Amino acid sequence: MKLRLLLPGLLLLMFATNAQQIARTNDATEEKIHALISQMTLQEKVSLLHGNSKFYVSDIKRLGIPEWALSDGPHGVRAEINRHDWAYAGWTNDSATCFPPGTALAATWNPELAYKRGLVLGEEARFRKKDVLLGPGVNIIRSPLCGRNFEYMSEDPFLVSRMAVAYIKALQSKDVAVSVKHWLANNQEEHRDSVDVSMSERALREIYLPAFKASVMEGGAYTVMAAYNRFRGEWCSENEYLNRQLLRKEFGFKGVLMTDWSAAHSTIKAALTGLDLEMGTDKKDYNEWYFADPLIKAVEEQKVPLSVVDEKVANVLRVMFNTKMFDEKKREKGSINTPEHQQAAYNSAVEAAVLLQNNGNLLPLHFDHIRSIAVIGDNATRKHCNGGLSSEIKALYEITPLQALQQKFGATVKINYAPGYQKQSIFKEGNNSGQSTSGKVDWKLIDEAVAAAKESDVAIIFGGLNHDFDTESADKQNMDLPYGQQVLIQEVAKANPHTVVVIIAGSPVELAGIVNRVPSILWSWYGGMEAGNAVADLLSGKVNPSGKLPFTLPVSLMQSPAHALGNYPGRDLKVNYEEDILVGYRWFDTKKIQPQFPFGYGLSYTDFSIGRFSTDKLSYGKNDIIHATCTIKNTGSSYGAEVIQLYASDPVCSVLRPEKELKAFQKIFLKPGETKTVELQVKVADLAFYDESKKAWNTEAGEYVLQLGNSSRNIFQKVKISVK
Ligand code: BGC
Repeated sequence: MKLRLLLPGLLLLMFATNAQQIARTNDATEEKIHALISQMTLQEKVSLLHGNSKFYVSDIKRLGIPEWALSDGPHGVRAEINRHDWAYAGWTNDSATCFPPGTALAATWNPELAYKRGLVLGEEARFRKKDVLLGPGVNIIRSPLCGRNFEYMSEDPFLVSRMAVAYIKALQSKDVAVSVKHWLANNQEEHRDSVDVSMSERALREIYLPAFKASVMEGGAYTVMAAYNRFRGEWCSENEYLNRQLLRKEFGFKGVLMTDWSAAHSTIKAALTGLDLEMGTDKKDYNEWYFADPLIKAVEEQKVPLSVVDEKVANVLRVMFNTKMFDEKKREKGSINTPEHQQAAYNSAVEAAVLLQNNGNLLPLHFDHIRSIAVIGDNATRKHCNGGLSSEIKALYEITPLQALQQKFGATVKINYAPGYQKQSIFKEGNNSGQSTSGKVDWKLIDEAVAAAKESDVAIIFGGLNHDFDTESADKQNMDLPYGQQVLIQEVAKANPHTVVVIIAGSPVELAGIVNRVPSILWSWYGGMEAGNAVADLLSGKVNPSGKLPFTLPVSLMQSPAHALGNYPGRDLKVNYEEDILVGYRWFDTKKIQPQFPFGYGLSYTDFSIGRFSTDKLSYGKNDIIHATCTIKNTGSSYGAEVIQLYASDPVCSVLRPEKELKAFQKIFLKPGETKTVELQVKVADLAFYDESKKAWNTEAGEYVLQLGNSSRNIFQKVKISVK
């Protein structure tokens, strides 16, 4: 399948600034909201501020206010869940399109794919009559162990922001609200219900806030979901600083702040600090929830002013108006499981895969000359869409790698399948015990795999993780390749030098034990419903890998900042982010630590050469925009894409700055021999650091270095500029 570009019209929409239009409604709508509120009883108002079931909020029929339907999740519309318990409802018409999850999306480095995904999710959500789709997850990947890394996107706030904004604009253009989650600092699942996170104001502003800020101010997100954890001593769902000061005052958020499911802790405090909607509380009688009868009582006792309740109701109604819930005729009707949706899922999978290593150009495999392949590994046959807890999807179908290889090449190539290893872990919701039995080496399976490898021209091992590890509600216990895979890979590589390893995982795993043993490694993530087709097309060279790592892949866990400093998962349910702003490559590059593979890294089957990098000026004012250009040529023999990455550094500064920080990027597709000019823009203001002494962003005058590369560790050219 050919990679398709979006229509120019979509591009225009994608980059248009619609924050104003989205964040605020017009005066006429505000009047309608006011008129509706003025007709409501207190009981009716409060009925809009808490769930009446797992994923719905009550209607008010006499005023024409419809029921509000919420649904997970970030990479596909989740199957219908029973109203009053967590079991699936057993519908036969709720299968959906399943996209590759967050880290895979970020690995495409292509916001157009995030936009396209948003459109598809919006259409499918509307088809399922949903009003709010709970996602995207925009938390920063701080530790390689966080169970939800696969749902999040990257260690870099700029990359997350670009993806999130495109996704949100597209999804909301289909009259469905997003819910940006998890606000804030949900960077580990270990003790997520109780941990208290502290960090400096600078780390907050530079690392953990930007994606939320961009989602609200640029993306115009209609709803935000408060995280389970505490932040600086207060629960996120009742945190004055987060919810009143940052979200409402600084970001100008006019939408709905909801709890995560069962993350409310109080009535009065939560009401006064800006929470609007309570969801998922674990009490059978919905009237007993914090934002139900207790809120009515608090208003009657004048502990919560009625105006505060009215503000919340207005926020709910505003989202309803914005998503055209009062104008069903004009509202998007939606569609589901169309070939176009499946094509979008395929494109997202195929552009995500990162070619980590390809010694001797073993890849692509020339299947017309190959007589036999050994396909090894549990992940060759495992389906992943239906895992990970709240983001799991009942995919209409999911093509596994083995199925795709059989279907595409089985007629001419003998395929010798051997499992090689077996899934041993049992994941139980709410604890980590599932991962304790995951290291056993099964020599019988290894011997079979070695035999298959010996009798084949090429061996392909599909290893990595599964959703016992990449999952909500538990962190990984280590960064190992589980189930004895390292030994398996080593033994297979000894038996057949033409061994390719395909890593299927959504978070970092240790590769140190295999990188020197096998020639080729392709990281293909969880690939959604089209996973197998995408990976088969990449292996055969029908499509050229163009993904780049959205996180640093450490040699070992202890290299990575939170672990090196011993502040994961915290002590006595408190964790202080001592690495501060040095998260991900900011740490590795500043401390000169050589990772296994750096942030932004990924190979191609073709080669590129980069022409001279220059900026429009050498000296800039603080309000200027830097226009940087270079040319890029595809000097190889296959169609392919490169991601040009622009990093900035501030060598002389009054505070420590990271060695470099990503400020712009662009993915460029080129035919063999083709040259294109790349134009990148950076606002001088975006070179600033957050100055704690001034409580403001500060772009100090002086010299900055712009660095152009294709990973944080492969810089081709630098330009020095000065800021006056
Ligand atoms: C998760 C949320 C999810 C919600 C509803 C929670 O456990 O943290 O991300 O949207 O459940 O399923």
